[in-house]
Amino acid sequence: MFLKSENLCKSYKTGDVVTHVLKDVNISIEKGEIAAILGPSGSGKSTFLNIIGGIDRQDSGKVVIDGVEISNMSDKELVEYRRNEVGFIFQFYNLVPNLTVKENIEVAVNISKNPLSIDDVLKAVSMEDKKYRFPRELSGGEQQRVSIARAIVKNPKLLLCDEPTGALDYETSLDILKLIENINKKFKTTILIITHNTALSAMASKIFKLRSGEVADQIENKNVMPAERIEW
Ligand SMILES: Nc1ncnc2c1ncn2[C@@H]1O[C@H](COP(=O)(O)OP(=O)(O)OP(=O)(O)O)[C@@H](O)[C@H]1O
Ligand SMILES: [Mg+2]
Repeated sequence: MFLKSENLCKSYKTGDVVTHVLKDVNISIEKGEIAAILGPSGSGKSTFLNIIGGIDRQDSGKVVIDGVEISNMSDKELVEYRRNEVGFIFQFYNLVPNLTVKENIEVAVNISKNPLSIDDVLKAVSMEDKKYRFPRELSGGEQQRVSIARAIVKNPKLLLCDEPTGALDYETSLDILKLIENINKKFKTTILIITHNTALSAMASKIFKLRSGEVADQIENKNVMPAERIEW
């Protein structure tokens, strides 16, 4: 198993009120798989993804990625893990506004151990002709392509996508999903996608439904559909 969470728990305390956001979440994903997490707003999806990606910490439970337990790493080890093993794609791109497309990707290259070539990844996301533009000179879909390039240039083992198409129209969303699918095929990257959109989960071989911090359902999808055939 490539990714495994065991009895993962997380709560937040605001004032005297404790909210249990993750309650014994157990999830397993095989290497090279595309998995989806579905669930209503507030069900704990982002919290879960952030712990898997080493951005946040669990209260209890265990996370193992490719045979290495990350849940007991020191802060320093966790930074290395985040830099070298994980690519993140967010709903609102999170590009650095005063850096060009190329420079945004260079930031990731400079901190990673085995980066791919910037030109290759720009080609992979069809942005090679816009590498000297600034984020404000790009459409939302183009900005998301750049953020995908930035995530994959590190050649990460794991790509975590938090509502990657949440801010995009239908056609652009399909383009981005096709891109994510191609990355999975080309680099054998294990991919975990969070979405509100049940239709998107058709491209995942495993689907987890979160409800109030619990895995309410887990589906093995035997008929994975290519992104280009997904409709909603
Ligand atoms: N830093 C924090 N402090 C306090 N509560 C938090 C914090 N982060 C998240 N929460 C709470 O944890 C719960 C789960 O949040 P989370 O962001 O994981 O939900 P989500 O499933 O990603 O929702 P959405 O679909 O709206 O993005 C929410 O009730 C939220 O208010
Ligand atoms: Mg979220």
